[in-house]
Amino acid sequence: MSEIKKIGVLTSGGDCGGLNAVVKGTAQMAASLGIKCYAITNGYAGLYNLIDFDKLTELDGDRVDQINAALSGSEAGHSRVKIKKIEDPDKYGRIKEGMKKFDIDALVISGGDDSGSVMVDLYKHGVSCVHVPKTMDLDLQTYSVGGDSTINRIASFVDDLKTTGRTHNRVIAMEVFGRYAGHSAFRGGIASDADAILIPEIPVDFDVLYRDVKKKFTHRILKSDIYAGTYLIVVAEGLKDASGSEIVDEGAGVDSFGHKKLAGAGKYVCQELTKRMKADKEMSDFMKATHMYVEKLYTVPEVREVTPGHLVRCGRASGYDVNFGKEVGGAAVQLLVKGIYGVTLVDVCGKQIRYMNAEHAIKQRHVDLDQVSIHEHMGVCFGREVKKYNPSFGEIKGTPERYM
Ligand code: F6P
Repeated sequence: MSEIKKIGVLTSGGDCGGLNAVVKGTAQMAASLGIKCYAITNGYAGLYNLIDFDKLTELDGDRVDQINAALSGSEAGHSRVKIKKIEDPDKYGRIKEGMKKFDIDALVISGGDDSGSVMVDLYKHGVSCVHVPKTMDLDLQTYSVGGDSTINRIASFVDDLKTTGRTHNRVIAMEVFGRYAGHSAFRGGIASDADAILIPEIPVDFDVLYRDVKKKFTHRILKSDIYAGTYLIVVAEGLKDASGSEIVDEGAGVDSFGHKKLAGAGKYVCQELTKRMKADKEMSDFMKATHMYVEKLYTVPEVREVTPGHLVRCGRASGYDVNFGKEVGGAAVQLLVKGIYGVTLVDVCGKQIRYMNAEHAIKQRHVDLDQVSIHEHMGVCFGREVKKYNPSFGEIKGTPERYM
């Protein structure tokens, strides 16, 4: 085990809540162990170009003091550059030269599946590094910093949208990031009492969704003494229709990881619902019964799409993510000092720093449909016929494992 004197911290992929806590935790743990910590700026782009830097920013006491761990985003900056895609045959040599130039012995790399896979490549090419899981998509095998912050923000946007939705008697479909996993849409939707949650794991049957919209939305307005009501749908961006085809605006292009940019699911949901409303005679009867109907101008309720986009992953990070981020950031340095490289941090359980095989950790995890089932049974529409909730029962022997 070689002695570590200087490390670099690098954050990569989409930013999110808790990343600054990771950066801060890394720098503070390093300082406490007498190790110097430097920011490798703008993700793997910065790492690849390290050799061209004149100087690096040292995250010493005063510099770290300027970082607000509770703010989302990363003081180290991000890019979506994947080393594997760089067409330079000596890219790993160049990276190692850059690290040598600044005597950087090892790296703490925080990112999602793509960034984690680059960490694996770097490790295989002889770079000492560890992976700290980060992604608002929550689709890794471990908890990833950013997930809880995003869930809280989605929930707060849904709450906010209810006031305008109810004032205008509109159905609102809020499309959220998450790529092909519906974790943050699912959890954010549940946290805000959304009426329907549409996730990539469940191809949507729009007739089922429409039936639920019609029932709850019209009931609310008819029961209201001022004829007011709304219906909130949280739509995950990587949605599929009943045939299993992706609902995506093909014109949105690709990002620099080479992934298709996902957009258009919320708009599609609005179109499908509006189409059904217009074809449904009972809907115009409802408009008449609630004194909203105006010939040619207002014959069916409006269905509107809202896309908060990057707002779901910025602003204030959740308390959970700041706690988690600081702990895994600090723990990553402990792993490096111990000479444990090429792995993914899981969490810190008291004195135990838990980690796992990185190639396994970055395998995509989807929403557990059994978990959906309990909420579906309690009335949330997931755009499919309700499946019977059939729980099994199990007694835990000893104390259940908990993070907090
Ligand atoms: O991977 C995180 C994420 O927020 C995805 O949920 C989303 O599709 C993507 O990043 C958006 O990325 P960008 O900010 O590069 O457009």
